[in-house]
Amino acid sequence: MLLGRRDFLRSWAALPILIGNSAKAESSEPLRVRASRHNRIYGAAVCTEQLLSNEEYRKVIVREAGILVAEGETKRNVLQPQRNVFNFSKTDAILKFAQHNSQLMRGHTLVWHRANPKWLSEEIVVTRDEKLLTGYIEAIVGRYRSQLNSWDVVNEAIEPDDGLVSGLRQQSIWFRAFGESYIETAFHCARAADPDASLYYNEANLEGDVAWSERRRRATLKLLERLISKNVPIDALGIQGHLKAYRVKYSDEVFSRFLDDVASLGLQILITEFDVADAGGPEDHVQRDADVASLTHRFLDVAFSKPSVIGCLTWGITDKYSWLSRDEHYRWPDGQSSRGLPFDQEFKQKPMWDAMVSAYDKTPI
Ligand code: XIL
Repeated sequence: MLLGRRDFLRSWAALPILIGNSAKAESSEPLRVRASRHNRIYGAAVCTEQLLSNEEYRKVIVREAGILVAEGETKRNVLQPQRNVFNFSKTDAILKFAQHNSQLMRGHTLVWHRANPKWLSEEIVVTRDEKLLTGYIEAIVGRYRSQLNSWDVVNEAIEPDDGLVSGLRQQSIWFRAFGESYIETAFHCARAADPDASLYYNEANLEGDVAWSERRRRATLKLLERLISKNVPIDALGIQGHLKAYRVKYSDEVFSRFLDDVASLGLQILITEFDVADAGGPEDHVQRDADVASLTHRFLDVAFSKPSVIGCLTWGITDKYSWLSRDEHYRWPDGQSSRGLPFDQEFKQKPMWDAMVSAYDKTPI
């Protein structure tokens, strides 16, 4: 079932966080506190290795994040490397960490065209065995039943460039095996396995003020409409929010209209993977930090002005470990580090952190 904002509030109220009274304490209050005060959440994607090995990282995550998601460890190539081999150890470790620190945890992601084990990618398109889809969801969602607050059930099913009128990703192993029906099958199966978890459809590149992003928005809305008209149990849309400050135009109006369109379908919205790629920006990193902060502020201001948007997770928390420095589409060609997360390499708050705080603080309750 849907975990509404009221329920979020209740779970926050129980969090053992000391909120200081002095102006100094207030100015350094962590994001999770700012967010919860305005009935929103803030969280971050984490990796077990870093949680285990870096105390400073651990401290920042505990202090700032109210909800965790695994950056890679709840993907199928990690959870089911072989047909008969499941490996839950890393997911268990993050869940234990989250529970110990009164943090929620969400699952990412059950069905994706990427991060699948080789054996599965080979087998599924030949056998078209639905059990390879449903058996996995039953096993994973069932194992973490009532412990994860939400699941990204299907991730990135849209790719208008693949040429279908529906805009669905034709090249996905799932589409190739089952056609569009894999999406509803996955949601029904997830709901049956954990009736308490909020079920998300998660999608990328939905905020650009460019024609190809508009095609993705149209296709996403149409897909959501079809799912809802068939009574598929979907609770929310996850908007990844990987912004590219110098490469993809963003406009408040376009983003705002899209959020309204999604909300009018009765869905909640979460920004699930927020960061701001700075590749292609000016040499001067002070200027870049200011640009990243300003875009963050605009984007989150629009998002949090909508009651349907329940919060935001950043994809990582420190530039030290950001995928933006590794991924071929986002990294700087000269190998320098990206600066697209709220904390820098030395775990110091950046202007982006201030922008996030300010956006949460301005959120109407
Ligand atoms: C990324 C991870 O951050 C990388 O470390 C990994 O190599 C590839 O996947 N959209 C998603 C996430 O839904 O799962 C992706 O995570 C980033 C884009």
